[in-house]
Amino acid sequence: MTTLKYNHVVINNNMENGMNLTLKVWRQANAEAQGQMTEYKLGNVSPDMSFLEMMDVLNDELIRKGEDPVTFDHDCREGICGMCSMFINGEAHGPNRGVTTCQLHMRSFKDGDTIYIEPWRSAGFPVVKDLMVDRSAFDRIQQAGGFVSVNTSGRTLDANAIPVPKADADKAFDAATCIGCGACVASCPNGSAMLFVGAKVSQFALLPQGHPERFDRVENMVKQMDEEGFGNCSNIGACEVQCPKSISIENIARMNREYMAANLKG
Ligand code: SF4
Ligand code: FES
Repeated sequence: MTTLKYNHVVINNNMENGMNLTLKVWRQANAEAQGQMTEYKLGNVSPDMSFLEMMDVLNDELIRKGEDPVTFDHDCREGICGMCSMFINGEAHGPNRGVTTCQLHMRSFKDGDTIYIEPWRSAGFPVVKDLMVDRSAFDRIQQAGGFVSVNTSGRTLDANAIPVPKADADKAFDAATCIGCGACVASCPNGSAMLFVGAKVSQFALLPQGHPERFDRVENMVKQMDEEGFGNCSNIGACEVQCPKSISIENIARMNREYMAANLKG
């Protein structure tokens, strides 16, 4: 059982009409170190800031005071890259549905709030430092089959020449909006990656271009998922609720059907 120790640091960035917040941030030096919640008082936070901008202000102040800034992942800050993995007040990407942490704004919180900020917690995502986790397990699953091989010998059929029913194209597109953030794993009590893998399998299984490799794809991706230590799905549904792209758990059912078909084929 982890013992939580609290450090207390007071920060005031001298802006007017902002919110005063108490931040309880997970600090952990590396994967082996024991982490702890550290408390920061952050003053005058603008409600128009994004959550990551608020974290930037905190880090500016920590650097100014000669302290170690909080390590967290981010890249696009537009809801595209899936890097901004944070557990905020016990929810992946915070309290709003269908948005990433970088799209979450401080107007979703109130003056005087206490906000708990933690990394994704899963055996498959070891902590690198503070709020940053290693999600390379997802890369290895993707490399195991999350692609379509194309013959570029010069006789390639134009993709637009292959008719695809509109309903299938829409479902494939919805599945393809998965940004690989890992919120599904972090919110699942089993640490299951099946929503992510289901989305990646579905986006190809629904299109004719994905059919030649469909059985190898699902078998290889599921095998890699199991080897990475992710848990199994027990239909709790937290992944679908906390997914910032609202990926449907119908994709898990499709993956299971693809997997059974691959096994029956032998
Ligand atoms: S399924 Fe949703 S929660 Fe899971 S990795 Fe994809 S976008 Fe993130
Ligand atoms: S930083 Fe890219 S999705 Fe949030």
